[in-house]
Amino acid sequence: MQKLEQVYEGKAKKVFRTEDPEAYIVDYKDDATALNGLKKGTIRGKGVINNRITNHLMSLLEKGGVPTHLIRELSDRETLVKKVEIVPLEVIVRNIAAGSLAKRLGLEEGARMKRTVLEYCYKNDALGDPMVNEYHILAMDFCTREELDLIAKYALRINELLTAYLREVRIELIDFKLEFGRTGSGAIVLADEISPDTCRFWDSVTHEKLDKDRFRRDMGGEEDAYKEVLKRLLGE
Ligand code: TMP
Repeated sequence: MQKLEQVYEGKAKKVFRTEDPEAYIVDYKDDATALNGLKKGTIRGKGVINNRITNHLMSLLEKGGVPTHLIRELSDRETLVKKVEIVPLEVIVRNIAAGSLAKRLGLEEGARMKRTVLEYCYKNDALGDPMVNEYHILAMDFCTREELDLIAKYALRINELLTAYLREVRIELIDFKLEFGRTGSGAIVLADEISPDTCRFWDSVTHEKLDKDRFRRDMGGEEDAYKEVLKRLLGE
């Protein structure tokens, strides 16, 4: 499958049209941004690693009954995906308090909570991706009630599947961000990526951070951390 013209360039990926009107090619970049684009850099090898990790985890989710946009991996950095219209929401699932939730509620990072938390943010860079609730989502017509119920159900199922799978390779899934899309036939499917850019992964034993927080917080060692996740998941 050949890349035709670029239809979109995001912070971490480019998307191209193909000869198939129902399929796009995603091309992962090494560029890294944080703080809504204020901090910019590169994480060497990140594009390849995130492409491989995302496809590995999306295949696993498909087997677990969650529909995704994945068609097939084309190369180290490129994947053929179903063309979707992205629902303008960042769906965040949190098992352990960290990041913005720890800050907002005055919790220690790593604090246990009584149950899983689901949050929604409106995907809008100019507004800094503000948090919204179900009332805002329906009032703004970001999606329908039925679509939102399905998105919440898929997000919690994804959490169950990923938490159990990652535990086997000594990774604790602290929290993560998902995006969903609508296919041509109107089905809701998981889109975007699932990678150390979009998840907090902590080593289960040492609690060492194996994700983009190393870059966001100037801790160093992000390249090795991404490689370590790839090694634990794919054995390479
Ligand atoms: P937060 O604690 O900064 O709100 O992040 C929660 C999770 O969502 C964390 O795993 C990182 C991920 N995330 C993204 O992938 N993209 C974003 O723009 C933000 C704010 C968070």
